[in-house]
Amino acid sequence: MFAKLFLLIALGVVLQQHAAEAASASPVEKKKIVCYYGTWATYRQGNGKHNTEDIDPRLCTHLMYSFFGIHPNGSIRLTDPWLDEEEDGGLGNIKRFNNLKLINPKLKTIAAVGGWNEGSEKFAIVANDPQLRKTFVNESIALLLKYGFDGLDMDWEYPKKRNELGYDDKANFVSWCKELKEAFIPYNFSLSAAVSATEDSVKISYDVPGVSKYLDFINIMAYDLNGPWDGVTGFNAALLPGQNDVTAVQKQLNVEAIVNYWLEAGAPASKLILGVPFYGHSFTLTNASVHGLGAPITGPGPAGPYSGEGGTINYIELCEKQLTEPWTAVWDDVQKVPYTYINQTWVSYDNIQSITLKTELALKKQLGGIMVWSIESDDFRGLCGPKYALLQTINKTLAKAQTKQTIISMVNNYFKQINDFFSEAFSF
Ligand SMILES: *[C@@H]1O[C@H](CO)[C@@H](O)[C@H](O)[C@H]1NC(C)=O
Ligand SMILES: *[C@@H]1O[C@H](CO)[C@@H](O)[C@H](O)[C@H]1NC(C)=O
Ligand SMILES: *[C@@H]1O[C@H](CO)[C@@H](O)[C@H](O)[C@H]1NC(C)=O
Ligand SMILES: *[C@@H]1O[C@H](CO)[C@@H](O)[C@H](O)[C@H]1NC(C)=O
Ligand SMILES: *[C@@H]1O[C@H](CO)[C@@H](O)[C@H](O)[C@H]1NC(C)=O
Ligand SMILES: *[C@@H]1O[C@H](CO)[C@@H](O)[C@H](O)[C@H]1NC(C)=O
Repeated sequence: MFAKLFLLIALGVVLQQHAAEAASASPVEKKKIVCYYGTWATYRQGNGKHNTEDIDPRLCTHLMYSFFGIHPNGSIRLTDPWLDEEEDGGLGNIKRFNNLKLINPKLKTIAAVGGWNEGSEKFAIVANDPQLRKTFVNESIALLLKYGFDGLDMDWEYPKKRNELGYDDKANFVSWCKELKEAFIPYNFSLSAAVSATEDSVKISYDVPGVSKYLDFINIMAYDLNGPWDGVTGFNAALLPGQNDVTAVQKQLNVEAIVNYWLEAGAPASKLILGVPFYGHSFTLTNASVHGLGAPITGPGPAGPYSGEGGTINYIELCEKQLTEPWTAVWDDVQKVPYTYINQTWVSYDNIQSITLKTELALKKQLGGIMVWSIESDDFRGLCGPKYALLQTINKTLAKAQTKQTIISMVNNYFKQINDFFSEAFSF
């Protein structure tokens, strides 16, 4: 009788420790799904045309309106006033975007300022002058209040890069974030940033502990790691290094190395949001019969039919082509990403399988969540499978982990109660 009881309690202790470990390794917290939305997709033709109302506001926790611009005098500008606003018969996209919170009241909407096309120089000018920074802080609060956003996202691509001004961008960016964050507190606005990924770039642009202190979350742009600019085929965003990655620089060009570096550099895991691309890079092979990784190319591949940019193809564009054309699909089991080719066109992209693995890495490393560039590139029409196949994958992978954690903490609680009961009853 006592032996049996003892066994039960011993089992309880073991299970409880096990469960406690698992629970503390990944506390039950809501992970972020940070979704950038390229508003210009409303101008696309056919199946590529994506309107604000095509967004599923239940599949993201944060929606990023991309992009607002910046003036060198510290003012924020609308990049496309007709699309952004309602006046003069405009599309009124900002209002329609923020109205998505009526469907999902927990959704946060964020104004993203910058992006690749906005360049680096205007940011560097504003960052270097306390008075201009003040103008920017003031104007950003006015902007968020005017339109009903919940936060601001700084997309300066990138401090100390793509400008020759010689200012201390790295330190200036910390001051700027500090001033923004402090001014936002009374309004409860969040402050985030989109940041470059690889060690060499991060070292040039960011004081990681400095910016981490003021940013509520940090969106790592873990893509564009290889592309047609390399002269050979390579992966846009491989999860792991490959056999050909021998130099120190090559070893940085994968998602795992990027996450490890950001953690090592001193960013809190819970603030890091791992970016995944919903687009691929296309290449034109020199010889259609030589189609492996590192194969010679003559340049970028043809543009996607809707996005119209050479060397880039969105998931929706590629999956639609694959429905009618005999593409060969290959899974690279070393680097854990797919590629596909037809004739002289070769494409590195992400699919359900690779997005699942990246989401699992974010969970394993206890990051704050997943960021997506960008949702209008997903199969939002359900041409090739379920609607928003890639976003759904992130949602399901995170939801599964959350259910598991909830069960673990329930089991943990259950055994703790049994233990407490018997410990008291028998005063062991
Ligand atoms: C900054 O420049 C823009 C464009 O010239 C102008 O519209 C805006 O009013 C200026 N802002 C300030 C604060 O001077
Ligand atoms: C921004 O500056 C203007 C002019 O000084 C002022 O009227 C306004 O209240 C400021 N806005 C915020 C949000 O601080
Ligand atoms: C402040 O913002 C956070 C994060 O967006 C949110 O969870 C919280 O409910 C907000 N608090 C108030 C008082 O609005
Ligand atoms: C293309 O590659 C194949 C396979 O390696 C080779 O047999 C063929 O000669 C190459 N063609 C050209 C034009 O180089
Ligand atoms: C591939 O090449 C074949 C043979 O030349 C051609 O019929 C087909 O249209 C090409 N497919 C694509 C997608 O380029
Ligand atoms: C996934 O989507 C469902 C419904 O669309 C939503 O209730 C749930 O909160 C989402 N899960 C995560 C982890 O975001």
